[in-house]
Amino acid sequence: MFIPDEFIQELKNKTDIVDVVSGYVRLKKQGKNMLGLCPFHNEKTPSFNVSTDKNFFHCFGCKASGDVITFIRRIENLDYIEAVKFLAQRAGLDVPEGRGQSEGLSKIRNRIYEANRAAARFYYKCLYSPVGKNALDYLHKRGLTDKTIVHFGLGYSPPSRFELLNHLKNLGFSNEEAFQANLANKSEKERFYDRFSDRVMFPIIDLRGNVIAFGGRIMSDIQPKYLNTSDTPAFSKGNTVYALNFAKNKANGQLILAEGYMDVISLHQAGFENTVATLGTALTKDQANLIGRYCKEVVICYDADEAGQKAAERAINLFRETELSIKVLKVPDGKDPDEFIKANGENGAAKFRLLLDKCGNDVEYRIAKLKIKYDLDVTEQKVEFLTEIAKLLAGLENDIEKDAYISKTAEDYDIDRNALSAQVKKYSKQQEMKEIPVQVQPFERKEDSSPKSKSSKAEEALLALLMTNPDAALAVCPDFPVEMFSAPLNKKVYEKIKERAEKGLGTEPVDISGFFSNDENSRISSMVYLRPRENDPFRAVNIYMTILEEESQKLKSKAATMSDEEIMEQILKNRKRKK
Ligand code: GTP
Ligand code: MN
Repeated sequence: MFIPDEFIQELKNKTDIVDVVSGYVRLKKQGKNMLGLCPFHNEKTPSFNVSTDKNFFHCFGCKASGDVITFIRRIENLDYIEAVKFLAQRAGLDVPEGRGQSEGLSKIRNRIYEANRAAARFYYKCLYSPVGKNALDYLHKRGLTDKTIVHFGLGYSPPSRFELLNHLKNLGFSNEEAFQANLANKSEKERFYDRFSDRVMFPIIDLRGNVIAFGGRIMSDIQPKYLNTSDTPAFSKGNTVYALNFAKNKANGQLILAEGYMDVISLHQAGFENTVATLGTALTKDQANLIGRYCKEVVICYDADEAGQKAAERAINLFRETELSIKVLKVPDGKDPDEFIKANGENGAAKFRLLLDKCGNDVEYRIAKLKIKYDLDVTEQKVEFLTEIAKLLAGLENDIEKDAYISKTAEDYDIDRNALSAQVKKYSKQQEMKEIPVQVQPFERKEDSSPKSKSSKAEEALLALLMTNPDAALAVCPDFPVEMFSAPLNKKVYEKIKERAEKGLGTEPVDISGFFSNDENSRISSMVYLRPRENDPFRAVNIYMTILEEESQKLKSKAATMSDEEIMEQILKNRKRKK
C-alpha cells in the first residue's frame, strides 16, 4: 500500500510521542525530556528517554531509538503500514486510500481474520457437541483438561465436507473468501469443499489475537498426520511462532522452543507457559529473531529422534546470530516433551523442571554429542575427540567463552591446558584465513560495536545533516555519489535520501523509516537525534563531504600499495575490534 508523504506529515504533526509512549511506559519529567523504564529490554533504572521537541525516543541501555512510528512498530510488533494505521486511528485520521492492490490486500486480510474467527468458533462448538465426542475423548485421553482445551481454543472439524462452508455462507462469507482463507479447497470442477475434515483443530493466533491459521490433527493413522493452513495473505508459516501470543507474557526472560502443537499445549498445562513451537517446519531466521524479541534465553527442546536433533543443530546456528543465550534440553528415552510429561504422571512437571534446570548451553550440548561418537579409553579416539573439540571451540566468537571452555575441557579430560589452547588458536587462525574474502575489503567495519573511524563518523554526520536539511540534501545529492560512503547501512540510507531528495520528497527519519528494519531505524535515529545542532549546516555539510572524499581517496591509494601482509594485519585488527 502506498501512503502519501503529506499524510505521514500530518500524522506526525497530530501525534504527540509522549502521549503515545505513555500508554506503555510510565514517564517522568527529567529536564527537557521524559524518562522511564525501557519497554524493549529489562532494566531497573530508567534509561529510556522521550524527547518532545525532537519527537523521538532513545534508550541509552539497549540503544533502541526512533520516531513514534518506529515505537509503535516495535512495541505492537506491526509492520510500517500497520503502525501508521494504528496511529492514524488513534489520531482520528483516515488513512488515504492508496493506489491499487495493496489496499485491497489489507481488506482481504481482515476478511480472512473474520472468517477464521468464525471457523474457530464453529470448530469449538462441534468439539463440544455429539459429533465431536470422539475428538473430545481423544483430547481427554491425551491428558488435556477442558480448561486447557478452552484456553487454546481447540476444536473439531466434522467429517462432512460442507458444514463449515455452509456455516460461513450463513454468516455472509462467500466461497471465494473461504477459499482465500484456505478454509475451503476448490475441486477441478470449481466446487468448493471444507479443507479440514474429521480433525482435531488447533487455531494459530498472532500477537494481536487474530486467528491466522489452523493445524488439524487426524485421529487415526491416515496421512498426513497434521494438515496446516497453507500460506495465505494473512498467514506466513515462516514468520509465525505457535503460542507466542500466550508465551510472550510469561517469558520472564526465557522461552522454550518445542517442535509440535501437542508439546506446547502439554507443557503449558504442566505450568511451562513460556513454551512455543514452529509449525512443523525448520526454524527460520525470522522466527529466531521474533523469539529473540521476547526473551534473553531460549531453550531448544526438540524431539530426541535424529530429525529432532538435526533440527536442534540448525536452530543453534540460527540463534547464534541473535543476542540470545542458548540452552539445549534433551528429553531422555527418545520421548518428545509431551510424552515425557505424560509418562511421568503426577511427577511430570517436576521432572521436566529438573531437566530444564540442569540443561546445558549449546556448547556443552555439542560436546556431549561429539562424545557419544568416541571411545575415550582408546587413546587415538580420545585424541580425535579432543581435536574435534578444539575445532568447535575455535569457532566460538566470544574469547571469554572460548577460554572458559578450554579450561573446562582440559580439566574434564585431564589434558594439558596449554596444549589444548595452542591447538584451538591454530584452528582459529585457520578459520579466519578461510573467511577472508577474495575481494579484499580491508576497511569494512561492523558499524554498531566498533569504535567508529573518522570516515564513518563523518558519514553519519553528513547523513544527519542531509536528513534534517532538505535544502542541503537537494543541493548535495545529485552530484555526490553513493560510493563515497563505505558502511553498508550508510550507503543504503544515502541512496534512499538521494532518491527522495531528487524527487523533492521528505528525507527525515520518519519519512524513510518505512524502508528500513526496526534495528536500522534505531541506528538512523541515533545518527540524527543524538547529535548537537550545527550552527551552520551548509558549512558542516561541506566539511563532511570533503572528509568523505579524502577518506575514499586514501582508501583507494592505500589498498593499491599495501602488501598482502599489511592487508592481512588490517583485517585481523578489524576483526579484534569487532569482538
Ligand atoms: P502428536 O503425534 O500429536 O503428539 O504430534 P507431535 O507434535 O508429537 O508430532 P511430530 O513430532 O510428529 O511433529 C511435530 C510437528 O510437526 C507437529 O506438531 C506439526 O506441526 C508438524 N507435523 C507433523 N506431522 C505433519 C504432517 O504430516 N504434515 C505437516 N504439514 N506437518 C506435520
Ligand atoms: Mn508428540
